[in-house]
Amino acid sequence: MKITFANLSVPKSGTIVVGILDGGTLSAEAEAVDKATDGGLSRALNASTFKGTKSHSMTILAPGGKITRVLCLGLGKAKDLDALAFQSLGGSIVKAIAAHTTMVQVMVGELDGCDLKAPDIAANIALGARLGSYRFDKYKTKKIKCHEPKLKSVKILTTGALKAKALYEPQDKIADGVFLTRDLVSEPANILYPESFAKHAKELTKLGVKVEVLTKAAMQKLGMGALLGVAQGSEREPRMVVMQWNGKPLRKGAKATKADAPVAFVGKGVTFDSGGISIKPAGGMEDMKWDMGGAGVVTGLMKALAGRKAKVNVVGVIGLVENMPSGSAQRPGDIVTSMSGQTIEVLNTDAEGRLVLADALWYTKERFEPHTMIDLATLTGAILVALGDQYAGLFTNNDDLADDLIKAGQAVDEKVWMLPMGSGYDKLINSSVADMQNIGGRYGGSITAAQFLKRFVGETKWAHLDIAGMTWSKTGKSIAPSGGTGFGVRLLDRLVSDKFET
Ligand code: BES
Ligand code: MN
Ligand code: ZN
Repeated sequence: MKITFANLSVPKSGTIVVGILDGGTLSAEAEAVDKATDGGLSRALNASTFKGTKSHSMTILAPGGKITRVLCLGLGKAKDLDALAFQSLGGSIVKAIAAHTTMVQVMVGELDGCDLKAPDIAANIALGARLGSYRFDKYKTKKIKCHEPKLKSVKILTTGALKAKALYEPQDKIADGVFLTRDLVSEPANILYPESFAKHAKELTKLGVKVEVLTKAAMQKLGMGALLGVAQGSEREPRMVVMQWNGKPLRKGAKATKADAPVAFVGKGVTFDSGGISIKPAGGMEDMKWDMGGAGVVTGLMKALAGRKAKVNVVGVIGLVENMPSGSAQRPGDIVTSMSGQTIEVLNTDAEGRLVLADALWYTKERFEPHTMIDLATLTGAILVALGDQYAGLFTNNDDLADDLIKAGQAVDEKVWMLPMGSGYDKLINSSVADMQNIGGRYGGSITAAQFLKRFVGETKWAHLDIAGMTWSKTGKSIAPSGGTGFGVRLLDRLVSDKFET
C-alpha cells in the first residue's frame, strides 16, 4: 500500500475521508465537501443518527458530482485527540475502505482545540493506515474476490504536505520493522526454524546491518550448554544471530568511552515450543509457533533502526532453537553448564526460554559490554494471568530504565508494567544439586523466571520484557489486525530515539 502526501484541496471525484466532531459539527474539510456536493453531506448526516462520536463512522455513497463515497469519521472532541488517536483513526480508515476501493483521499486541516498541527495529524493518520493495512495471507491460494483488500493507495491531502511527508518518513521505516516482526511471528514452525530464521536476519545486511550467524559447533566451542541442552531434542540445529547497527561512529581520533558502548537487545527465539519431554497439552499448542516473538522483535527493531538510519550503536542477539521431545532430548533432572560456568538443574524442560536467554545474555554482556541490555521473551504463561493482553511485564535492576520504558510505552501505546524482584524470589530457584534450578514454585512464575535471567547479566543495566501476552492477538485492533502484533518494535524504537540517539 502506497501512502502519499499532497496539499489540501477538495477532490473532484473518488473516495474522500473527512472528520465530524462531537455533536455532529462538520470539520472545515467536511464543510468544503458539503459545499462541493451542494449540501449532500449535511443532508445525509441529518438523515442519520451518526453524531461524530469517537470511533463511530458513516459512509455516504454518491453524495453529488463525481464523488463516489465520503467516509465521515467520528473525531469526538478535538481537545482529546492525540497522536495515538490519529493513528487509530488511520487504521480505521483502512478497515472501513479496504474492501471497497483502490484509492482513498484523506483531507486533513488544522483542527481548533487540538494540540497537534495538521502535518503531525497527517503523519499519524498515515502511520496508522500503514500499520492497519498489514495482512498475512501468503498461504491462501484461493482468495475470495469480494473479501480481498483492494486498497492500493492512500493520498493524504493536508496543509503542510512536505512537513507531513518528512515527519512520516522515519515512521514508514519503523512500520517496515513492525511488518518484518509480524511476518516472522506468523510463519509456521515447518517454515521458520533456526536456520531459516537466521537467513531472514541475514537479509538485513542490505540495510547496512552487520550480521553474524553462530552455528551449533561455534556455540559448543563457547560452552553454551544451557541453550544447547534445549536444542538437543530437535532435528533442527540451533543458531545464534548477532546483528550490529553502528549508526554513531566515533569521530576520527576520538577515544571510545563508556558512553559509546552499544545498547543491546536480546531475544528468545524458540521457533517451536512443544515443551520437550515435559510436553505441553495438545490444545493450543499451535500457539507455540510464535514462541520466537522476542527474537522477532529484535530482528524487526534492527530493521527499523537501520531503515531510518538511527544515530546509535545497537547490537541485537537472538538465540534460535526448537524445543522438541525425542530420544536425544534433554530430560527433567539433567544438569547443564551454561557459558557463564554456572550450572543449572533442568527440572522442567518446558521452562526452556530462560535457558536459551541465559547463554544469549551472558554472551552479549561478555562480548559487547553494553551500556544497557534489554531482553524480550514470550517467557511465561504466568504473565498472562497477571497482566492479560494490556501490558507486557517489565523486570529490571534499574529504576531509571524502568521509567524510560514506561514512558516510551505510553507514547506508542505499547505499554509495560513493572513487577517486583528481590532476594526473596531469587532464593526460590536455588537447587540442592546445582547452582540453580530452572523453575521456582507454583506462584510468582514470571518473577522467578526474571530472577533466573538476572543471574546472567552481572552488573549490566538490564531490563527484561515478558511479552507472552502481547505477541499475538486473537482479536486485533485498528492498527494491528489479528495475529502477530509486532509489539515491542515501536516501544524500543521510541526508547532508542528518546534516550540513546543524541
Ligand atoms: N513459551 C512458554 C510461555 C508461553 C505461554 C508463551 C503461553 C506464550 C503463551 C514458556 O516456554 C513456558 O512453557 N513456560 C512455562 C514455564 C513453567 C514450566 C515454569 C509456563 O509458563 O507454563
Ligand atoms: Mn516452554
Ligand atoms: Zn517457550
